[in-house]
Amino acid sequence: MTYIDNLINELYEKNELADNELLYLIKNIDEESRKKLLEKAYETKFKYYGNKVFMRGLIEFTNYCKNDCYYCGIRKSNKSAERYRLSLEQILECCNIGYNLGYRTYVLQGGEDGFYTDDRIVEIIKTIKAFFPECAITLSIGEKPYGSYERYYEAGADRYLLRHESANVEHYGKLHPRELSLSNRKQCLYNLKEIGYQVGAGFMVESPYQTEENLVEDLLFLKKLEPHMVGIGPFIPHKDTDFRDKMQGTLEKTILMVALTRLLLPKALIPATTALGTIHPLGREMGLKAGANVVMPNLSPTKVRAKYSLYDNKICTGDEAAECRYCIERRIENSGFVVDTSRGDNIEWKRT
Ligand code: SAM
Ligand code: FES
Repeated sequence: MTYIDNLINELYEKNELADNELLYLIKNIDEESRKKLLEKAYETKFKYYGNKVFMRGLIEFTNYCKNDCYYCGIRKSNKSAERYRLSLEQILECCNIGYNLGYRTYVLQGGEDGFYTDDRIVEIIKTIKAFFPECAITLSIGEKPYGSYERYYEAGADRYLLRHESANVEHYGKLHPRELSLSNRKQCLYNLKEIGYQVGAGFMVESPYQTEENLVEDLLFLKKLEPHMVGIGPFIPHKDTDFRDKMQGTLEKTILMVALTRLLLPKALIPATTALGTIHPLGREMGLKAGANVVMPNLSPTKVRAKYSLYDNKICTGDEAAECRYCIERRIENSGFVVDTSRGDNIEWKRT
């Protein structure tokens, strides 16, 4: 047995590895060992969640943002972005369509848009909960003060997605303007956990200037934070950002990161991301086979889909919600998995 195979076995049995071991594995893994690693990741997922894939209805409710993340197509300085906001009625209509398709989780994602004050966000959460009490609500609206997160949780929000983007200070600084700091991003994640949310962190793979050492830091930060969910997708350039000419993240590296994350955090909910499906026609299926267990079909109104353009060539921008549902469902079933439309909470989480 090779040294790498030993590392894979150790990771599978103990769900941890030292930084130098992870780095060695990332740098030196060959085809044969890679296959073994993906199998172990899948086995680990199967142990806790069987062959289920959980569905989340994604509602991209605003593409206004006060931030200027260098990689992001809806950053504030992109003057070519056509901006939109959904009204409460439009958001409810998306939920209603999702409900009729069987979804019991809605993910409300958007830029950091001051129009949606805490009062408005609370009103949206309470109204959705009044109409769909058995459904889980996930927010993904960026960095907020502790008190705001508390108010959303008390109003009924259950989960919060906030990718850490990079756990290395210098690298974080190359992806974001000065006003945004890694320390605040991390603090937000710890605050969300303390309040009681199911928390999702995560990062882009092969974002500009990222090194393999940075990826090890990302994995070890996840291990330390122990989020309930982890979003991992390849970086994909957007034509209206300064990163337009940067290389897109590879399928191989992204899948490797999904598998390593599954082995480090066996009970996490890990989406096979839209970005993964964008860089390869079977990217999401490969993600599921490497330990991912969530997909997030789009419920946003078709007329705004293309405007939520985080990166170029994003898939599913022209399809109605029902088309997305049946397309993804077919893909899941053809890959040997079973669609699960329940709330799909992390098995270790209970509302406090
Ligand atoms: N504003 C919220 C936040 O900051 O968490 C949520 C919206 S933000 C657009 C959602 C995620 O999109 C980010 O966390 C980032 O990882 C991802 N993203 C943005 N631009 C991307 C790009 N060019 N390629 C791949 N993923 C990207
Ligand atoms: Fe705010 Fe991307 S810069 S959502």
